[in-house]
Amino acid sequence: MVPFLTFGAILSLAGSAVSQQPLYAQCGGNGWTGATTCVSGAVCTKLNDWYLQCLPGNAPPVSTTTPVPTNSGPSTTPTSLPPVATPPNMSPEWQAAYEKARVAVARLSLQDKVNLATGVGWQNGHCVGNTPAISPISFPGLCLQDSPLGVRFADLVSAFPAAINVAATFNRTLMRQRGEAMGDEFRGKGIHVALGPMMNLARVPAGGRNWEGFGSDPYLSGEGAYETIIGIQSHGVQANAKHYINNEQEHSRETSSSNVDDRTQHELYALPFLRSVQANVASVMCSYNQINGSFACENDKMLNGILKGEFGFPGYVMSDWAATHSTLSVNKGLDMTMPGDITFGSGTTYFGNSLVSAVQSGSVSQARIDDLAIRILAAWYLTKQDSGFPPVNFHAWNLNDPFNKHVNVQGDHKNIIREIGAASTVLLKNVGGTLPLKAPRSIGIIGNGAGPSSRGPNGYSDRGGTDGVLAMGWGSGTADFPYLITPLEAITTRARADGTIVSSTLSDTDLNAAATVAAGKDVAFVFITSNSGEGYITVEGHAGDRNNLLAWHGGDALVARVAATNSRTVVVVNSVGPIIMEPWINHPNVTAVVWSGLPGQEAGNSLTDILYGVYNPSGRLPYTIGKTENDYGARVLYTSGPQIVQMPYTEGLFIDYRYFDKNNIAPRFEYGFGLSYTTFQYSGLSVAGSADGGTAPSGPGSSLDPWLHEKVVTVTFTLANNGTVAGHEIPQLYIALPASTNSPPKSLKGFDSVYLTPGQSKTVTLELSRFDLSIWNVAAQRWQVPTGQTGILVGASSRDIRLTGSVTN
Ligand SMILES: *[C@@H]1O[C@H](CO)[C@@H](O)[C@H](O)[C@H]1NC(C)=O
Ligand SMILES: *[C@@H]1O[C@H](CO)[C@@H](O)[C@H](O)[C@H]1NC(C)=O
Ligand SMILES: *[C@@H]1O[C@H](CO)[C@@H](O)[C@H](O)[C@H]1NC(C)=O
Ligand SMILES: *[C@@H]1O[C@H](CO)[C@@H](O)[C@H](O)[C@H]1NC(C)=O
Repeated sequence: MVPFLTFGAILSLAGSAVSQQPLYAQCGGNGWTGATTCVSGAVCTKLNDWYLQCLPGNAPPVSTTTPVPTNSGPSTTPTSLPPVATPPNMSPEWQAAYEKARVAVARLSLQDKVNLATGVGWQNGHCVGNTPAISPISFPGLCLQDSPLGVRFADLVSAFPAAINVAATFNRTLMRQRGEAMGDEFRGKGIHVALGPMMNLARVPAGGRNWEGFGSDPYLSGEGAYETIIGIQSHGVQANAKHYINNEQEHSRETSSSNVDDRTQHELYALPFLRSVQANVASVMCSYNQINGSFACENDKMLNGILKGEFGFPGYVMSDWAATHSTLSVNKGLDMTMPGDITFGSGTTYFGNSLVSAVQSGSVSQARIDDLAIRILAAWYLTKQDSGFPPVNFHAWNLNDPFNKHVNVQGDHKNIIREIGAASTVLLKNVGGTLPLKAPRSIGIIGNGAGPSSRGPNGYSDRGGTDGVLAMGWGSGTADFPYLITPLEAITTRARADGTIVSSTLSDTDLNAAATVAAGKDVAFVFITSNSGEGYITVEGHAGDRNNLLAWHGGDALVARVAATNSRTVVVVNSVGPIIMEPWINHPNVTAVVWSGLPGQEAGNSLTDILYGVYNPSGRLPYTIGKTENDYGARVLYTSGPQIVQMPYTEGLFIDYRYFDKNNIAPRFEYGFGLSYTTFQYSGLSVAGSADGGTAPSGPGSSLDPWLHEKVVTVTFTLANNGTVAGHEIPQLYIALPASTNSPPKSLKGFDSVYLTPGQSKTVTLELSRFDLSIWNVAAQRWQVPTGQTGILVGASSRDIRLTGSVTN
């Protein structure tokens, strides 16, 4: 039997192959006269019009005399090679994957293609989403599993810092390393698709799932998404960019319409998804909500127009769980329905036989069903899951089922978790040398958030409780903790080295106990929290979204009582997002505030590294902390009900710091803010180059255009550590577009994380592309560099600009 493949035209093997090419050798193409077959286990694969290569895989035995049947047969017999729908600017990796997928899809029946796209139904497989195996091509079916911070519903996995924390590091290396470690864990469990990263934009500060994403700036979110995807996919696991799009709150998420103008959509909400496409993301998840009155999973403009059109996304779009609303969504750009059934456990589906019938009746074209199958299989080839991928070896619905092989995938990931936990901790206030600690005689530790949960770290299903140290929010974006290091435990252990006496009270409401523990201690730590999550769980009256931005459990009163008693009070905050701290932030006895966010399983150790100066704080806020919730550009709409709730995004481009800047509202702590134990000096700004000239393309693939993304402006400056301790500074570059564009006063377009020892200085270089300096031209439907002067603002936060220059475009 001779492995034999065709590419558009039927090639025929002249005689029998005298030799077979080894794996990865050329086997055809322009002017090729050598052997056109590969050794067993490899397939001669067309990479482009001029080069064919032996790549891993198994080709079907095909008769050398009978041509492959053409598309005239009944729908259940294989058809000819489907046409290639390759958008311009497709990456070489996707191109190679597409060629393999076309070959495979040619061997599939209509039923097979539909099966590729149809989940088997809620809880009918071992994972939260499952597709069936397709035997003719040895496709094992896909296992899809939450979450963006680790493997959900599994044992012997790690609980990573939430995305909001890795965003606070402003450090691409750490973002990448976290993605790699998570990819390693998903792969080890046999999971094909990791359901993350999440990149909604924290439009409203109380939004329940904000912490699953990278904060409220589209550029930082895009970088977080990019690095996470590259990291996850480097281990051969498909990443999933979600939730596309405008899923910005939990209330009415399935019964609301986010009404967003085209410019805002491009410049804010869609931007991290474009960046995900640049990372070759395998899949995208469409969200529950509507956009302009049409559900995200059947929104032709968002899916076909922007994502698969302008952004040239070659992978597949899956629905959020039960977010599919029709069979004909397929024509609007939906490729896969998850978990498969219309509602959980309904036993009915919009895909499956309904989709087969739709193709047979012509309401979905053959070309579209081929396209959908190619996209799904190409993602599988892209991540090389066709060879050597481990089988699923855990059982999401029953960890005690014998199917669960209890594979320990944690490796040494606790180290990167601890490091990110420290690097994401934001020091907000530190007066009188309160921190770092210098062998204090006595420490008081106060508050429930310093200790263990009364039920153990996983005692509340999907973390739906606020009890003990808060290290992740609640909902589907969670993982089980293998263990959870509490601040009490970590500080107590570290304090022993100095012979420090540690006293504690873990009650949030026993204020007398708090005062007793705080009294007379060298330093008093008071822990407060604020939690949120996904709307299917209500915790202490918060139905996913927070009801307000106040600390939970009477945290303000607890701080007040401790501060009244101890003149070195350190407030430690574990929170999903901003809290209002006006009641105590200026209290003279509150001498330090440490923002610990949601640091994951090593919470206490990461915090202790900061408190004792093992890690010099370099975390920066990935959102603004306002003085009141009314200061923000948008807020949760708590309306709910069966009618579609209209959510006009009237603030347009002006969310978070963009709104504060535009309206001259003083925040308590601005976007990008964070202190260090040392000081840094900025000098010598130089801005070279220009984005002037030329016109960006429009249409399919235009947002990936290499000319658009060419770095054309180089910004350099000198950064010096003029303090006494080594550490990282996070220089940030904001642009100020010409006033005529009605753009935000400042928009983040660059950052770095630079390590400097005392007295050391370094030249920092940040580069800008035409795209970075563009706005979306709604009339022309293309990116455009505004004519005139664009300000280049470099500094230590969005409101601590140290150097100013400009570029003329
Ligand atoms: C929604 O409507 C706004 C205003 O008409 C428009 O600019 C935008 O492109 C629309 N978006 C979608 C996805 O239809
Ligand atoms: C600060 O703490 C001291 C105890 O060390 C206390 O006497 C004083 O009243 C506190 N200050 C305020 C403003 O509460
Ligand atoms: C370090 O540089 C900053 C910024 O220029 C300056 O404010 C500060 O006084 C300097 N510190 C020392 C110790 O020179
Ligand atoms: C990021 O963090 C790591 C670990 O702290 C550090 O080594 C590195 O210098 C930081 N910056 C960058 C750009 O990687």
